Amino acid sequence: MYQLPQYSHITSFSKVAILTSGGDSPGMNPAIRALVRTATSFGIEVIGIHRGYAGLLNEEFETLNSKSVSGLCHRGGTYLKSARCLEFHEAATRQRAFDILSKHGIEALIVIGGDGSLSGAHELYQEFSIPVIGLPGTIDNDIYGTDDSIGFDTAVTTAVEGIDKISDTAYSHDRHFLVEVMGRNYGLLACHVAIAAGAEMVIVPEHQSDITDISQQLAQRRKEGIGSSGIIVVAEAGKSGWSNQLSEEMRQLGEDPRVCVLGHLQRGGKPTAHDRLLAATLGNCAIHTLLEGKTDVMVGVTKGAVSTTPLEAVITQKKGLPVEVMDLINELQH
Ligand code: F6P
Repeated sequence: MYQLPQYSHITSFSKVAILTSGGDSPGMNPAIRALVRTATSFGIEVIGIHRGYAGLLNEEFETLNSKSVSGLCHRGGTYLKSARCLEFHEAATRQRAFDILSKHGIEALIVIGGDGSLSGAHELYQEFSIPVIGLPGTIDNDIYGTDDSIGFDTAVTTAVEGIDKISDTAYSHDRHFLVEVMGRNYGLLACHVAIAAGAEMVIVPEHQSDITDISQQLAQRRKEGIGSSGIIVVAEAGKSGWSNQLSEEMRQLGEDPRVCVLGHLQRGGKPTAHDRLLAATLGNCAIHTLLEGKTDVMVGVTKGAVSTTPLEAVITQKKGLPVEVMDLINELQH
């Protein structure tokens, strides 16, 4: 369990809206459930907006209550559905969105999503002073201001389960596999997967990898009898499918790796207990944070405690890859 702040409520709301936006992530459903149940316990009406900001503009609204969110805890994806809405980058579109929220008497908006989605919420607050709260919902765990994000643990678990299977056939055929995982431009997902799956190597955008050097290392390991098969985890690094190109380069150097791009498989499935606990905690704390009179912040976790970070910082600052993660990977390679 996380360490929770002491909340003192200084304000009240009658109607708030919630939406999920950007790439979905396992755990969004238990977050929706926690938001609705907590809000309901304070007598707040909750409007669920379907399909993110795009659905807001189309007024795809549903009143949510305790009953409508029952049975959501173990379901992957997002009950509210999600979308990427490029149009929301335009000021005129946000004006339309604010007009719609006002027309429906919605006093605050809670957004679950990645940094692009949280940036939409921040702009709404900056331009119209409507209270907004963000929750980090992405398998990438690349959001500044939180150590963890809803869906990350499930995505790591799913990828590791896949690699365990690939490892069996890799062993049988004395082969190496390049397994490409998601994470957009951030390598943490790849690193956690590599450690948990016992991979031989990891290729991440934060560190330069030399394919000649990697091929030589594999050849050397084979020569020394250390490893005739194994896994190299490759972060997609914003170039989904690029491990095919890497394997071609390795082939030119005498290696014959196979490639497996895990892709969207990592975004689906039942959330792990860890993600459910995180989602339930952050959903609950988001409502308390709103009632505390805080706005334009993301509720996340820092060193095991629930924390709030201004959305301005969340969207302008970059999260670095922790040095100790790479150190651990390097030391486990010997
Ligand atoms: O941000 C989540 C994520 O799954 C990234 O890891 C990936 O790069 C991207 O979304 C894929 O987006 P889409 O589902 O739009 O192809």
